Amino acid sequence: MVTIRDVATKAGVSVATVSRVINNKGQATPETVTKVLEVIKELGYKPNVVARSLTSRKSNTIALFVPTISNPFFPELARGVEDVAHSYGFNIFLCNTDDERTKMKNYLDSLRDRYVDGIIINSLNLTNKDLEQLHSHGIPAVTLDRTFSTHKFSSITVKHRLGAQLATKHLIDIGCKRIGLIRGPEDDSTAVQRMWGYRDCVKEYDWFDQTWMALGDFSVKSGYLCMKELFQRHPDIDGVFASNDLMAIGLLKAAYEWGRKVPDELSIVGFDGIDMSQYTIPPISTIRQPIYEMGRMAMEELMRLMREPSSNFIKKELDVELILRESSMR
Ligand code: RIB
Repeated sequence: MVTIRDVATKAGVSVATVSRVINNKGQATPETVTKVLEVIKELGYKPNVVARSLTSRKSNTIALFVPTISNPFFPELARGVEDVAHSYGFNIFLCNTDDERTKMKNYLDSLRDRYVDGIIINSLNLTNKDLEQLHSHGIPAVTLDRTFSTHKFSSITVKHRLGAQLATKHLIDIGCKRIGLIRGPEDDSTAVQRMWGYRDCVKEYDWFDQTWMALGDFSVKSGYLCMKELFQRHPDIDGVFASNDLMAIGLLKAAYEWGRKVPDELSIVGFDGIDMSQYTIPPISTIRQPIYEMGRMAMEELMRLMREPSSNFIKKELDVELILRESSMR
């Protein structure tokens, strides 16, 4: 394998000079640059990316943390990040944390030593200290989607509480009299905001109490199990807001097993707007998040921070949209 030393010897310069030419670090005369580049081409030398990152602390690589890879929401989000990253010549390390603190810490520690140029983090298990440490190591970070508003760094998410209000108000407007909620995980900030958005709309009704809310985990199976639980608790339920589309898809099976006609006897609204939600029978009304756009914006913001490390941070809460389909068209 051709090494940087082979190039230096043939070009008649030092290894440091070859390194400066490779990393575009000035101080070499145009004649030297030309000579070194000719020798690199002649020998077919390929700079060692890890070695280069050790010198320049740049690897043209960013890391994207996601809390799971089994929900279609996250690949769509990653697509937005990746398309922008590749347009700037950056590669992506995809890190699936399973929303586990240990995995998160291991990734953060190992990436710090690999000189990634920046990190986009979608996770509940992030702390202010994690972000401060990345910042002090000169690694910009942007939080995305599942973010906590108390940190000072750049973040991009959507109006989760407003989206839940839109969903619940729609069910009220079409005539639903008893509306239940299938919540996402208790420790998930996005799920908690959606729970409050639902409660904003039903808290004044005399029928409402905590038993109209069932605790899911954003999975299809939890949607199925939670809907059965709500049917058992409240057979008169005639509307349900599921805090994500996968749980809305799962509850369709429970409605079928309980002999409830959707939408006439049970109207349904989900949240996310993943592609799959339009292919169920019936297609599911949902609160669409600008998923791809969020990923795109997060990567553009990370590029800005990498270019201008001392610039101000931004906080963005994007709008969501009620998409009406058959599951709530009475
Ligand atoms: O469906 C997965 C959910 O987790 C989405 O609603 C998204 O906001 C993420 O937080």
